[in-house]
Amino acid sequence: MTPRIATRSATRDAIMAGVWLVIGTLIAITLVFAGIRVATDLPMILSGQPPESDDFEARYVAASWLAYLHIIPGVIYLVGAPIQLHRGFRQRHLSIHRALGRVLLLCGLISGVFALAFGIPFSFGGAFQSLATAVFGSWFLVCLVRAYTAIRRRDVQQHRRWMIRAFAVGLGVGTIRLWVGLFVAVDAMPLSDSFAVAFWLALGMHVIAGEVWLRWAPSAPRGARSSSTG
Ligand code: HEM
Repeated sequence: MTPRIATRSATRDAIMAGVWLVIGTLIAITLVFAGIRVATDLPMILSGQPPESDDFEARYVAASWLAYLHIIPGVIYLVGAPIQLHRGFRQRHLSIHRALGRVLLLCGLISGVFALAFGIPFSFGGAFQSLATAVFGSWFLVCLVRAYTAIRRRDVQQHRRWMIRAFAVGLGVGTIRLWVGLFVAVDAMPLSDSFAVAFWLALGMHVIAGEVWLRWAPSAPRGARSSSTG
């Protein structure tokens, strides 16, 4: 290996390590908030004692079926998707990739449909947030469906590209919480507005990040080490 190729390979490995760190952190943030959700809502759902109607959690208790048909499959999808995107795993366990892929695709679709069914009528941040949910939730579903139709016609490259796009949006859920946290920390605006703005900022950033990634790695690298995404 020439020094130039070695430097390029080291840079690529460093970028990959950074990307995996960001992915792991955002998934961890999402899991923490999902855990807080369940711990807060479950006692109220089980006891039938609803919170005050303007409390944040009131919507999750009142429309618990819609909310949890979004959250539970969403968490399964988000935790499973990185395994699917890990090139080394795909190469070593193709049959598991296929079987797990069916389960995760179904989870992603259910979560996306209920993101719309819960998020549009019950949004905490009002119409501006509902609109973001409609735009990005539909985009998430389109990406999953296109990934599926691509693999049905055995177009692996397009399947990979649409799955990366879908995952980029799903991962944005963690970034929403980071933006909300920042707005709250600097007392920028009321909490409900923070949610609406955070939805647009975070999910918009993630759609762009997905496209940037696909330009940088337009197809799965052939000779790259197994730590690669894609
Ligand atoms: C695929 C992975 C996803 C996971 C794991 C996930 C998880 C969650 C969790 C845990 C909550 C509760 C938030 C809290 O209590 O702070 C939530 C709420 C919500 N999610 Fe998702 N989500 C995912 C994808 C999406 C997508 C793609 C959309 C569409 C834009 C979306 C839209 C929403 C909406 C609108 C809410 C309600 C926010 C509110 O309280 O007003 N989610 N999600």
